[in-house]
Amino acid sequence: MNKDLQSVVLTEEQIQEKVKAAAAWLDERFADKKPLAVSVLKGSVMFFCDLVRAMQTPVQIDFMTVSSYGSSSETSGMPKIVMDLAASVKDRDVILVEDIVDSGYTLQRMRDLLVGRGAKSFTVVALFDKPSRRKIDIKADYACFEIGDEFIVGYGLDYAQQYRTLPYVGILKREIYEK
Ligand code: IMP
Ligand code: MG
Repeated sequence: MNKDLQSVVLTEEQIQEKVKAAAAWLDERFADKKPLAVSVLKGSVMFFCDLVRAMQTPVQIDFMTVSSYGSSSETSGMPKIVMDLAASVKDRDVILVEDIVDSGYTLQRMRDLLVGRGAKSFTVVALFDKPSRRKIDIKADYACFEIGDEFIVGYGLDYAQQYRTLPYVGILKREIYEK
């Protein structure tokens, strides 16, 4: 385990079990459709790649980079679109793939934007849900794992752009982000 972590939340094996279950859930809903899967970068990148490959349904993929943090462990409340999608979402069944729903500001921003652009349907799959931190009444349609008020990193998730490439997810020691 990385020395900056307090404990591991999901091992590589546990992540793959969650990915399989989420893929099966999506396959059931989208088998007869041609969905567009959207990865909210950078945090969802690892989960996204595993998820779309675990699905039986062929999906098109696209990417959007959203930034809300700077280098803190608290959201600014004003998520910024750093890079937009290449594809049009008009009349598409959109599957939005998020790493974690925390305050809910990012998800609200994405939903308003993509539904506003004419998406036919909007389905959210998140690897993690942190319900105790919610500021906006919104939730993922499918969340793989619920966690308390802890700051987690790894498997795409970062603190100040670090730890994203760890293959597992762990709780970051408070002394790292509270100093
Ligand atoms: P929200 O807008 O507050 O819901 O936060 C959404 C984004 O904040 C997520 O997509 C993550 O990128 C980031 N985030 C929230 N909680 C954590 C965490 O515990 N670790 C790493 N990133 C987090
Ligand atoms: Mg994110």
